[in-house]
Amino acid sequence: MQKIDWENLGFSYRDTNCHIRHSWRNGVWDDGELCASPYLNMHVAAGCLHYGQAAFEGLKAFCCKDGKVRIFRPLDNIRRMAMTARRICMPEVPEELYIKALERVIRANRAFIPPYGTGGSLYIRPLLIGSGVQIGIAPAGEYTFLILVVPVGAYYKGGLHPVKAVIYDDFDRAAPLGVGGIKVAGNYAASLFAHEKAKMEGFAVELYLDAKTHTFVEEFATSNFVGITADGAYVTPESTSILPSITNLTLMELAREQGLDVQARSVRFDELENFSEIGACGTAVVLTPVCSITRGERVIRIGPEQGCGAVFQSLYERVQAIQYSEAPDRYGWCHVVEMDD
Ligand SMILES: Cc1ncc(COP(=O)(O)O)c(C=O)c1O
Repeated sequence: MQKIDWENLGFSYRDTNCHIRHSWRNGVWDDGELCASPYLNMHVAAGCLHYGQAAFEGLKAFCCKDGKVRIFRPLDNIRRMAMTARRICMPEVPEELYIKALERVIRANRAFIPPYGTGGSLYIRPLLIGSGVQIGIAPAGEYTFLILVVPVGAYYKGGLHPVKAVIYDDFDRAAPLGVGGIKVAGNYAASLFAHEKAKMEGFAVELYLDAKTHTFVEEFATSNFVGITADGAYVTPESTSILPSITNLTLMELAREQGLDVQARSVRFDELENFSEIGACGTAVVLTPVCSITRGERVIRIGPEQGCGAVFQSLYERVQAIQYSEAPDRYGWCHVVEMDD
């Protein structure tokens, strides 16, 4: 194995020892196997390729201060994938099978888990796809569930960096009764064009408003919206077309613990200028502070242009401390992976 430069890992794919793969046929999941090749041999008429039956998840495992390896909130990701599966007519992956698969693939790739102190983690990407042959529009008859892992580095070196966000009124991400509230692959295809445009124009993230009225804030393309009001309330939008972010649930719990008033409610675009901190939250980065939001000619500035507001800084540190077991796991979020086979 090539020596890994733990301090300089980014967030990109690299080969590991293997991924784990389970198949669903005739109504049952098989026992799964560890596959060294990162390629999948698939029929050209597989349902996922034509009709988008594909769900994925993103979670992380950490090498902790006590040397143990822990997965952060795996049951929440498992249940969210089950919700996605139901909505797009795929079989759910049973929780016990899922947890075992996570443990097996992590154990088999233990050499790729960034050591404690490097700020890195093992990013885990479960994928559930309709792999059966399906030429008429209908759910596929067979499914493949796989989990791949990738070591990733600390996103922030030397503190949280704020980014610029943009709202485009000519693109929507998710319809009110569509599939924005689940993690189906097509949602990301739907947002690629706007994302490339944003990057070209110098913005790191796009913020979406509700598709029906463009009045209410929904979420960023790959992360939830969080705002801190001038009087210290934690506000996050509530809508059927927002993905329920597990990081957001974590932050809400920790914000309550710090005595903040946590409000999950409709957030009008007009309110944005009243927030003292705005951030994008998700597994990859935990929290990215946003220093400005541009909509056409209008630019709303929030918080410091350098660094990060005090509330986000403290929430970010709390999450990281729990993930690396530097602080007690009062909520039972961390799942220890026994490393003996
Ligand atoms: C659309 C969208 N919103 C929010 C999130 C953040 O969710 P989580 O905190 O579970 O990573 C993600 C990432 O999974 C996402 O793709």
